[in-house]
Amino acid sequence: MSTSQVQFHDLHTTRDEFVDDVLQGLARRPASIPPKYFYDARGSKLFDAITELPEYYQTRTEIEMLKRNAAEIARRVGTGSLLVEPGGGSCAKVHILLEGLQPRAYVPMDISHEHLRIAAEELAIAFPWLEIHAACTDYTKEMALPPSAPRGTHVAFFPGSSIGNFDPAGAVDFLDSIAELLGPEGYLLIGVDLKKDRALLEAAYDDAAGVTAQFNLNLLQRINRELGGDFALEHWQHKAIYNDMAGRIEMHLVSMLDQQVKIAGNTYSFARGETIHTENSYKYTTDEFIELAARSGFVSEQVWVDDNALFSVHLFRVQQGHASD
Ligand code: AVJ
Repeated sequence: MSTSQVQFHDLHTTRDEFVDDVLQGLARRPASIPPKYFYDARGSKLFDAITELPEYYQTRTEIEMLKRNAAEIARRVGTGSLLVEPGGGSCAKVHILLEGLQPRAYVPMDISHEHLRIAAEELAIAFPWLEIHAACTDYTKEMALPPSAPRGTHVAFFPGSSIGNFDPAGAVDFLDSIAELLGPEGYLLIGVDLKKDRALLEAAYDDAAGVTAQFNLNLLQRINRELGGDFALEHWQHKAIYNDMAGRIEMHLVSMLDQQVKIAGNTYSFARGETIHTENSYKYTTDEFIELAARSGFVSEQVWVDDNALFSVHLFRVQQGHASD
């Protein structure tokens, strides 16, 4: 790897925000903590382990679909683009696209500093011809390209159904900011988990090996370690349920008894059975998602669904002259 191939930009600070979000979230009833805080070093590793679980069909299904359709995607989008990946901390799925797409530069943006740095350096070794401008940033807050990024047709890659973490209104806001970043000729390639049988969905978020439970509980360990909390992990239990009215999987941590938790001089009481809501993962039919994206000015170019109708990959283009341009 040449020394100039990877440029690293640190665009955010998190500790103050982490404290504020945790203290505010635990004071609220129902209590909640934003899912972005799952991804410390251990959380990122646990998430990688989730993606290999037999129950977690999403990752392997999407990878298979991207492989199968990479040539078609490259044909539609063209070479020499500026490929931007919000949340691209592991740089994993982009491997599939790079050979065919031959972008001018790749811009992964991620909140997890070390994870991103290591992944960007590994990617640089695998693709020595590729310019990489890694941006350590919280894409739920800001969506700016690093100043060093070159021009080219902008293509946003947002795989993994990460869009499911936003509620539908938040997803529209997020897609608005992507459309703005992309500009009028831009493309969006996005993976979206489909609505399906409850049992399949719930198993994917409550696996037999208990990896998702560890992932969820790691949030409390992180609060203990980084914010000096005193959560007793054995008194909290992972729960994942499909809320079919809302069209989302909900993850919670359930308090197993009446208890108090102290964090940074504050005390929080939880009754037995009370929960901390840690994540939503919204599911969409292809029509629902096309309609949602249209609200941000995206026009559907193509949508792929696997043979078992588990997962969808959409290619959109920013509509010329949309209000957010
Ligand atoms: C990274 C948000 C797409 O919702 O499936 C996986 C996170 N949480 N198992 C998802 C997650 C528990 C994942 N996303």
